[in-house]
Amino acid sequence: MCVSKGMCVTIHNVFDDKCQNIMISCLAANKKRLGDYMIEMKEVYKIYPNGVKAINGINVSIHPGEFVYVVGPSGAGKSTFIKMMYREEKPTKGKIFINNKDLGSIKEKEIPYVRREIGVVFQDFKLLPTLTVFENVAFALEVIGEQPSIMKKKVLDVLDLVQLKHKARQFPDQLSGGEQQRVSIARSIVNSPEVVIADEPTGNLDPDTSWEIMKTLEEINNRGTTVVMATHNKEIVNSMKKRVIAIEDGMIVRDEARGEYGIYD
Ligand SMILES: Nc1ncnc2c1ncn2[C@@H]1O[C@H](COP(=O)(O)OP(=O)(O)OP(=O)(O)O)[C@@H](O)[C@H]1O
Ligand SMILES: [Mg+2]
Repeated sequence: MCVSKGMCVTIHNVFDDKCQNIMISCLAANKKRLGDYMIEMKEVYKIYPNGVKAINGINVSIHPGEFVYVVGPSGAGKSTFIKMMYREEKPTKGKIFINNKDLGSIKEKEIPYVRREIGVVFQDFKLLPTLTVFENVAFALEVIGEQPSIMKKKVLDVLDLVQLKHKARQFPDQLSGGEQQRVSIARSIVNSPEVVIADEPTGNLDPDTSWEIMKTLEEINNRGTTVVMATHNKEIVNSMKKRVIAIEDGMIVRDEARGEYGIYD
């Protein structure tokens, strides 16, 4: 019923009083949706098998559509925090929900399905060197058995978004670092995930190229995708004025709506 607020307004204009009830139910539905979290962690701890306590009691909620930077000194637990979101690492204790799904209760064989809802971007791109740009992005769709004609359209659409359609036939080693990272971003979003998680995506890139990557991630976020990004890039964090979660010794020590990087290296 309540497709959007805009639809309710249209109905309201046409049906006047009768719409009031519809509006009320729309607001209730929207409220419920606003209360949902894209990512939620409750009392999460991670102790690695060697005894390192990487995460020490984290509680956090991230709404759909947010852009969140994760900052903190080296070894603070940022990557561990992020890896637990896409089930690369399991928490030792506590609960993690992605899009209201309890990651602790999913079976091993269901992990690939959950991962499809989450796009991941790495510092070192992780492209397959023997595949072209097109094939690297298409690979994410091939594994889910997408039809070739739909696959082609989806791949070309995301390559267009990252402005690399003209490089579709190139191999990764024929691209610059920034272009390779844009291919990896295209790959991360080709399944239309609700969340993109990036661990230092600009870590290997020069300042200008880092900004290009940020603009691409911002564009993806503007289209409604939640973005969580761990970074050591002070300039970017301070300029973008997004939510900043600072982690130290496996704990959240700061969580600000329009935050700053802080005093880390
Ligand atoms: N697989 C692992 N096994 C054991 N200890 C680990 C493992 N991965 C990370 N650690 C340890 O957990 C702690 C947190 O590491 P993590 O990689 O999450 O930090 P980080 O904040 O991402 O650091 P950086 O900024 O250097 O990337 C560190 O003490 C690290 O040595
Ligand atoms: Mg890290």
